[in-house]
Amino acid sequence: MDQLTYLSGFGNEHATEAVPGALPRGQNSPQRAPFGLYAEQLSGTAFTAPRAENRRSWLYRLRPSAAHPAFRPVEGAAFAGFRTGPFDELPPSPNRLRWSPIPLPTAPTTFIEGLFTVAGNGSPAAGAGIAVHLYAANASMVDSAFFDADGELLIVPQEGRLRIATEMGLLDVAPGSIAVVPRGVRFRVELLDATARGYVGENYGAPFRLPELGPIGSNGLANVRDFLVPVAAYEDVERPTRLVQKYQGGLWETTLDHSPLDVVAWHGSLTPYVYDLARFATVGTVSFDHPDPSIFTVLTSPSAVPGTANCDFVIFPPRWMVAEHTFRPPWFHRNVMSELMGLVRGAYDAKGEGFAPGGTSLHNCMSAHGPDRGSYDQAVNATLVPHKLENTLAFMFESQWVITPTRQAMESPALQPDYDACWSGLAKATLPKTENR
Ligand SMILES: [Fe+2]
Repeated sequence: MDQLTYLSGFGNEHATEAVPGALPRGQNSPQRAPFGLYAEQLSGTAFTAPRAENRRSWLYRLRPSAAHPAFRPVEGAAFAGFRTGPFDELPPSPNRLRWSPIPLPTAPTTFIEGLFTVAGNGSPAAGAGIAVHLYAANASMVDSAFFDADGELLIVPQEGRLRIATEMGLLDVAPGSIAVVPRGVRFRVELLDATARGYVGENYGAPFRLPELGPIGSNGLANVRDFLVPVAAYEDVERPTRLVQKYQGGLWETTLDHSPLDVVAWHGSLTPYVYDLARFATVGTVSFDHPDPSIFTVLTSPSAVPGTANCDFVIFPPRWMVAEHTFRPPWFHRNVMSELMGLVRGAYDAKGEGFAPGGTSLHNCMSAHGPDRGSYDQAVNATLVPHKLENTLAFMFESQWVITPTRQAMESPALQPDYDACWSGLAKATLPKTENR
């Protein structure tokens, strides 16, 4: 498995074969697939999902996925930081919360073993909600693979490059890019640098898709052509391979006598993908006032309520600020939606300090937040000339439901005890004196 090339597009019908002639022409499951390969459909949406939302692919593989022994519960402490919905260990807190970056491991730790769940909502059983995990790793997965039957995984590297070997081909992803692995797709994560750290959004709900563009038109924000899909690449490896799956919150494992990454050809619309966030075409005001941050939505997982997301993935990339007579940083606000933020690099324009790359903040439903005192003072006194925000990349998972921290996150030394203080000392407004007062 050594082909690292991509096809372009999001949710399109792609077709790729690592061996010429491996992909059947004209039908999905011929009586005998080429070379005796096994045809297998992987469905990521219900068979009858509307055409625009339907995601499925046909895989042509050396052995059918069905050829495996029984799964058994994973024992031991290898996944000690992994939590799942329902997130009911602690009562939801209305407080604003912020965490410093978690430390890198000292003992050998793979991407999957190093997951530390910060917070979440919903549950795999409900088919709604998200979990937000941090990862910190210093070892590649070897002779092992993982898949998540509970949701798709949106991976946001903050430090170190990853190679994600999936059933459907190879993905390389570096800080500044994201990777998405659909529910059920088997994969292995290799480190291309000594260490790796970042964030994972585990989406229990509807698969991520591009937001509608409305009056923006047919271009802008994340463009379809910039999503990269792997070409087929297979492993013909006959070694014992540990296969771990997350299933309804539990971790189960079995041992195969071969690599499960043995898909020689595939076609369809259900694919892992990578996206370089630098390709995001930002839109903003060219007159005055600050639009809602929904203009920065890269991907959305809709809920059943129109315009109300199970999870939006939103970024705050480098961009020009040109608004006149406008308070330019994010304004003070209280939001019915709940917001979990991370920082890939640089500084976020609403926070002067304390929100470090690799850190996390959580502002839940109706919690009042906005720029800290220093950022506010700077913004109201700034001379408003065109200004480019450079060296910054923050992101947000925004959800319809309250995002509840895990007990381990609330007991972590990374939790900052004094986050509220960043909004203290804001001067009271001064009204003009009138006779009535
Ligand atoms: Fe906010």
